[in-house]
Amino acid sequence: MLVIGIESSCDETGVALVEGDGAPVPRLLAHALHSQIDMHQAYGGVVPELASRDHIRRVIPLAEEVLRESGRSLADVDVVAYTRGPGLAGALLVGAGVACALGAALGKPVLGVHHLEGHLLSPFLSADPPEFPFVALLVSGGHTQLMRVDGVGRYELLGETIDDAAGEAFDKSAKLMGLGYPGGPALSKMARQGDPTAFKLPRPLLHSGNLDFSFAGLKTAVLTQARKLGDQLQVRTADLAASTEAAIVEVLVKKSLAALKNTGLQRIVVAGGVGANRLLREQLNEACAQRGVRVHYPELALCTDNGAMIAMAAAMRLQSGSAQASRVYAFDVKPRWALGELAPA
Ligand code: KG4
Ligand code: ZN
Repeated sequence: MLVIGIESSCDETGVALVEGDGAPVPRLLAHALHSQIDMHQAYGGVVPELASRDHIRRVIPLAEEVLRESGRSLADVDVVAYTRGPGLAGALLVGAGVACALGAALGKPVLGVHHLEGHLLSPFLSADPPEFPFVALLVSGGHTQLMRVDGVGRYELLGETIDDAAGEAFDKSAKLMGLGYPGGPALSKMARQGDPTAFKLPRPLLHSGNLDFSFAGLKTAVLTQARKLGDQLQVRTADLAASTEAAIVEVLVKKSLAALKNTGLQRIVVAGGVGANRLLREQLNEACAQRGVRVHYPELALCTDNGAMIAMAAAMRLQSGSAQASRVYAFDVKPRWALGELAPA
């Protein structure tokens, strides 16, 4: 079963081919990606209309690229998968429209995939794929969730952010330090030259006794600190960045450990853009090594949005029999779509 996957939910256009031949984990044949970061940089964030237009320009050449690279043709494709949500409505419509048109033209079924399920299953694209069950820390630009994952489609929400996501905390803090977009990598790079203990910043909900997160207060504390610094901000940016990163990472690591303790599981998967963060990886690896817990990440290049995770999630869903591709080509997208609304396996 050859699945082509199309991702266009935000500022990356991704296309990939995954083959499921009955092996427990389907195989990635090729993937291609175009990031719009350079285009949005001038505006300090994603401009939805520009994002949609750029997806239109990129998606077909990227599809041609993966077919060429894998030596397959469109006629070989069995299922066309696309990101149905959550994300920017206009951007999602591009991928959904192209996927459904392609499916209709080829007479092949289509399958809409939940973007977060793509992130969640992205570690299966790595050379060291996890085994079920595991705890998943899903940390992207819009979501921060801890989940118990017992199998494909068997997801139990353990805790989530009650306001900003971790990625948002990185992005907003970076913006007010003048570090540009996307803020996570920029702040993290700046933090390397700073002292993480320089500023005392709050660790929201660290001792709340549950597995929820809150990052809005941290962002306000960073803003207050930046205002207090005034002209001094420029020379103290690295210290403030390092202190901010340390606060976010400490909360993510401690809550992850609490989730492992509560569930009694010995395996954790980290997915989503913030999973690329070096400090998070270092601290989580160290804490888990001490407890004999295995940690899995997607390949660094597949932490942020990509088509491979969409094709992979579709292939795993189809292979496990927990979703069926459809020959109905009328489509809708779901800009807001909670993972909990997904049909269970
Ligand atoms: O998963 P993703 O690519 O898109 C969404 O689905 O949201 O995540 C993007 C988020 C952004 O907030 C970005 O700043 C953050 O991931 N990010 C990072 C790093 N790389 C990306 N945050 C911290 N450190 C990084 N190295
Ligand atoms: Zn994402």
